[in-house]
Amino acid sequence: MKVLILGSGGREHALAWAVAGSPRVSEVVCAPGNGGIAQVARCVLVNLKDLDSMVRLVKTERPDLTIVGPELPLSLGIVDVLQEHGFRVFGPTRRAAMLETSKSFAKRFLQRHAIPTGNYAVCANAAELEKAIDMFHPPIVVKADGLAAGKGVLISDSRAAALEAARGLFCGATLGEPEKQLVIEEFLEGEEISFLCLSDGMNVAPLQPAQDHKRIGEGDTGPNTGGMGVYSSDDLLDPAMTEWILRHIAEPTIHGMASEDVPFVGVLYCGLMMTARGPQVLEFNARFGDPETQAILLRLDSDLVESLEACVDGRLADSELRWRPGASACVVASSAGYPGSYKTGFPISGLAAAAQVPGVEVFHAGSAQVGGQLLTAGGRVLGIAALGETLDQALGRAYQALAEIHFEGIYYRRDIGHRALKSSRSAS
Ligand code: AMP
Ligand code: GLY
Repeated sequence: MKVLILGSGGREHALAWAVAGSPRVSEVVCAPGNGGIAQVARCVLVNLKDLDSMVRLVKTERPDLTIVGPELPLSLGIVDVLQEHGFRVFGPTRRAAMLETSKSFAKRFLQRHAIPTGNYAVCANAAELEKAIDMFHPPIVVKADGLAAGKGVLISDSRAAALEAARGLFCGATLGEPEKQLVIEEFLEGEEISFLCLSDGMNVAPLQPAQDHKRIGEGDTGPNTGGMGVYSSDDLLDPAMTEWILRHIAEPTIHGMASEDVPFVGVLYCGLMMTARGPQVLEFNARFGDPETQAILLRLDSDLVESLEACVDGRLADSELRWRPGASACVVASSAGYPGSYKTGFPISGLAAAAQVPGVEVFHAGSAQVGGQLLTAGGRVLGIAALGETLDQALGRAYQALAEIHFEGIYYRRDIGHRALKSSRSAS
């Protein structure tokens, strides 16, 4: 089989690495890819913001399966268009991806199907918002309805600050474009869990759960990022909790979409808050998480391509995912200044020594191969992922590998997994 992966980040590197390891696969192409992905796939140019560019590429390459990494091509309807041209593609259609691309759609859907989530109101202008806001006690969460790359969620300590945040979103000052709709939400407290499942539109197969660390600073301080590190371990959710989430959240979501004639085929990423009243949906993503995928795929012991094909072919019930017991972690190394402005083009060294550490895989998020030299090319540069029998061991290996890696201004959080380590130590 020839497999094409659309995207250029650490998630796509992990996907390309897993796909390249499948006995069914003879060729992996990644578009546009990056300097690290080029070591496991042939990288070709594409514009992920342009449907025509992607369709032209697929018509030229004629892959047996296309896997869509990021949300933007999904929001443009790449899956619908490729299907119309007769190509096999893993990912949801434009309408099914609305679970991610419209927060008002997702909230109303959750309410229609009685799936646990926080209280909310959808507002189309400042007057509606002023009316709705008194139902919410601070902190108040105000969200842009559409895709905003992590910049559309504003949490305010007072009614006045929330109104100010909403004004910024409505007038376009916050995101560059004025928002037509906002969602106000109840603030939920607890641990966040990324619960990802594969689906063929009817059946659901959970992946190992993971916990992301979204803030730039240690101790979960500072601005939000795309994700600075993640871990996955057997202790993260007990079997009863996993079962509850499947029965009350993941399956009702997939069955609800099917009952509305918008079957969801692809990865359903349930962003959950584990609150005192149980797991609540914070958000959905219609794609693999980044950096969750890097840690999760390290633990996968069965053939990813077999399971993705089973989703596309509507036979997920006959497919089996097997997992390595224990834990994995992925620590992100970023450029100085990220998630604000940063410089790129610095040489990266020490990757060969890092790869010698047992259980370690280095996934590239933003690197470029220029004249035989690997250079930094993004905010998030590398994800150092490691397997272990325990979370302690996985994290120890990831940090040992990181100590070998250098580029100017390298920054990473030294406390990935801190919450899990603290609770397991206090329990023992
Ligand atoms: P979202 O893009 O909706 O996942 O929001 C980004 C981040 O904002 C989440 O990962 C949470 O950390 C935080 N967040 C979003 N909604 C809420 C909420 N209702 N209560 C508390 N935190 C939230
Ligand atoms: N790690 C968060 C995301 O992929 O959206």
